[in-house]
Amino acid sequence: MPIATDPRILVDASRRDDAAVFQVAPDRAIVATVDFFTPIVDDPYDFGRIAAANAFSDVYAMGATPLLALNVVGWPREALPFELLGEVLRGGADVARAAGAFVLGGHSVDDPEPKYGMVAIGEVAPSRIITNAGARPGDTLVLTKPVGTGILSTALKRDLLAEADLAVAVAVMTTLNAGAARAMLAVGVHAATDVTGFGLLGHLSTLLEASGAAAELEAAAVPILPRAHELAERGAVPGGTTRNAASLAGAVTFADRVDATARLLLADAQTSGGLLIAVPPERSRALVAALEREETPAAAIVGRVVAGAAGRIAVE
Ligand code: CO
Ligand code: CO
Ligand code: CO
Repeated sequence: MPIATDPRILVDASRRDDAAVFQVAPDRAIVATVDFFTPIVDDPYDFGRIAAANAFSDVYAMGATPLLALNVVGWPREALPFELLGEVLRGGADVARAAGAFVLGGHSVDDPEPKYGMVAIGEVAPSRIITNAGARPGDTLVLTKPVGTGILSTALKRDLLAEADLAVAVAVMTTLNAGAARAMLAVGVHAATDVTGFGLLGHLSTLLEASGAAAELEAAAVPILPRAHELAERGAVPGGTTRNAASLAGAVTFADRVDATARLLLADAQTSGGLLIAVPPERSRALVAALEREETPAAAIVGRVVAGAAGRIAVE
């Protein structure tokens, strides 16, 4: 992808960060991101809520405040009634409202497979931008949601799980990262990203590459959604998770006691995952306490940043 150069471009795709950031005034920058995907749950309203929470997540990961959104829709107009699309859009609008943002328009195309997501726009003061590049050796790594949504939604598709059993995962995926972002902004952190398609290990490795550091991850400290371990053992592993695990082989080393299922869970492709935050160690307790006050789905210390080859992770 060709990359432009301009002093107003503060963050672009070359940085592999969560959103683009463009300065419009000395103290103001626009944050822009787009995300859309195929349904991962059967309920159209929940699908809309999950897609919207996922789209705003990249705004929150930059330390920004959501302003507005545009719907992005692919819909099989002959095969699925528009009433279902109405439910998807209602879910998206409800989550946008909870984010304090307005859905002002969008675009749809006829598509054999339904797809939904949003362009999400926010703002941030340039001095307050939190990128993925600021982690330093010694920082504590904190995760604000459990992992395992890829495995659970695959189990649903393969009828290993009823939709009712997905309630915890849906609650986690529809939770905005707003509280997590408020907590990290209040405490002051070095770096953050959100955990999505490349899994915890993939997004951690990208953050470490951008920061020029390595990390130690404590597998047993990573919060896992109920039943995800069991369903992964029964083979409910999405293709994206298997690809993540394979592509990380050069960057990650595992202690022998970390079993094959745990390794897959750490690479599981997430939808609307939590924030992964690098915080100076003396502020890690304050961050966990602030996250707990915000009632984020998790507030777990999962490892630490260390000096070493950029992007490398040792899982213990
Ligand atoms: Co992201
Ligand atoms: Co994204
Ligand atoms: Co158009």
